[in-house]
Amino acid sequence: MEKIKRTKVVDLLQRNDYGSMVNAKGWVRTRRGNKQVNFIALNDGSTINNIQIVVDLANFSEESLKDITTGACISVNGELTASPGSGQAVEIQAREIEVLGTCDNTYPLQKKGCSMEYLRSIAHLRPRTNTFGAVLRIRHNMAIAIHQYFHERGFFYFHTPIITASDCEGAGQMFQVTTMNLYDLKKDENGSIIYDSDFFGKQASLTVSGQLEGELAATALGQIYTFGPTFRAENSNTPRHLAEFWMVEPEVAFADKDDLMDLEEDFIKYCVRWALDNCKDDLEFLNKMIDKGLLERLQSVVDTEFVRLPYTEGISILEKAVANGQKFEFPVYWGCDLASEHERYLVEEYFKKPVIMTDYPKEIKAFYMKQNEDGKTVQGTDVLFPQIGEIIGGSVREENYDKLMTRIEEMNIPMKDMWWYLDTRRYGSCPHAGFGLGFERLLLFVTGMSNIRDVIPFPRTPRNAEF
Ligand code: 4AD
Ligand code: MG
Repeated sequence: MEKIKRTKVVDLLQRNDYGSMVNAKGWVRTRRGNKQVNFIALNDGSTINNIQIVVDLANFSEESLKDITTGACISVNGELTASPGSGQAVEIQAREIEVLGTCDNTYPLQKKGCSMEYLRSIAHLRPRTNTFGAVLRIRHNMAIAIHQYFHERGFFYFHTPIITASDCEGAGQMFQVTTMNLYDLKKDENGSIIYDSDFFGKQASLTVSGQLEGELAATALGQIYTFGPTFRAENSNTPRHLAEFWMVEPEVAFADKDDLMDLEEDFIKYCVRWALDNCKDDLEFLNKMIDKGLLERLQSVVDTEFVRLPYTEGISILEKAVANGQKFEFPVYWGCDLASEHERYLVEEYFKKPVIMTDYPKEIKAFYMKQNEDGKTVQGTDVLFPQIGEIIGGSVREENYDKLMTRIEEMNIPMKDMWWYLDTRRYGSCPHAGFGLGFERLLLFVTGMSNIRDVIPFPRTPRNAEF
C-alpha cells in the first residue's frame, strides 16, 4: 500500500480540499451496503464522529473485504470527497484498504446498547464505545482546565506524597502499605505489631488527601494546588464513592471564608464553561444518549449564583420540610451529618441551585477546621450539587496553635507523626483556607453519567480491582 501520512479523523472532518489523497487509520464501527457499494464507519478516537469510507465493489474483491468486520483495525488510502449523504460533510472514496488487525465475532462490542454494568466487566474494551470515548475525552479536558485555571491565577502545582504516615481526615480509612511478611508478623509483648522492620520503619499508608502537605506549601509559596490520586478504604458501595479517586486541592494563604467560597464557585464554573466551550460534540452526544437535561443543567450552573447557606439555616429548612410531610430515610436535627437525600432536597427541590453550605457543627467535621466564636461551629464550606450531593469539601484552617492542639486532643488524633504540621502554626502561622474537589464527582456532573465507576477508566471499589 502506498505510504500516505495519516490524518486524524477529527482533522479530516474539518477539511474541504476535495480530491486530495488522504490516509485514515482506525477501528471499524459498522459496515453496511449492497452489491455495488459498501459504507464503513471508521473511528479513531480523536472525536466522537466517524468518517465514512465508501468502497466501490467494482474495485475491490469480496475476498479482500472479508476481514473488515466490526472492531477490526484498518488503514485506508483514498480520495477526500464531499459527501452527498446526510450526516457528514466529507467522506473517503477508498482506493486501498489494509487490515491492520482482524476482529472475529467473539468481540464483545458487536451489538449496540450494552448495559453500563456489562461494560464495566469489559473495562479494557469500553473506551472503544461512543459513550466512554466521550467521557474519556471530557476527562482529559477537565484535567487541562484545572491546570489552566490555577496556572493563569498564579497557583503553583505542588506534588504531595502518595505514601504517608498521617491520616489527614482522621477517619481511619487508610490502605496500609507494607513490605512485611504478613504470614510472619513480629509482635511485642502486648501483641502489637513491631513496625521497626517494615520498609519505612513505621506504619505507612496511601494518602486520603494531600491537604496537610498542601498547607505547608501554601504557607511558603502563597497559593498552591495539588491534583493526584487519593485513596479511601471506606466500605461505601454507592454510585458516588471510589476507593481510588482523583482530588484537586487548592490551598491559599491569607484567604478567609468569603475568599474561599468565591474561589470554589469561580473554579467550578470555569471548569463547566470549559467543557461547554471545548467538548461540544461529546456533550451533545451525551445529552442525546445519556441525559436529556445535561446541556441545560451545565449552562444553568454557569449562569447561576450559588446559594451560601449556613448549616443551621439548612437544618431549619429541612425540619420545616419534614413538618410539612417531606419524608427522609435519615432523621434531621441540629448536629446531624447531612445525608445525600438531605443535600439533594436543598439543592434540587428547595433552592434549585448549587449550595455552598457553611459553618458546620464541629463534631461532624475534621480537626483542622477553623473554630467560630460560638464554640460550636467550624468554618467548613462544602459545595453541594444537583444529582451529585457533595462535590467539594473545604474549610478555613485553624491557624491558632493552642486551639488546634485542643481540638486534636479532644478528637484523639494520633499526633506523633504530625509534629511537622503543627510547626506551620508555630513558625509564622497565617490565616489560610482551601478545599478538595473530587475529580470524578465533577465528571459525573459534567458528563451526566450516573455511576462514578463510569467516569474513571479502571474503577477501584470494595471487592473490585480488576484490570
Ligand atoms: O470532603 P473530603 O473528605 O475533604 C478532604 O479530603 C479535604 N482534606 C479537602 C481539602 O480541604 N483540601 O473530600 C473532598 C472531596 C469530596 O467533596 C468529594 O467530592 C471527593 O473529595 N471524595 C470522593 N470522591 C470519590 N470517592 C470517594 N470515596 C470520595 N471521598 C471524597
Ligand atoms: Mg467532605
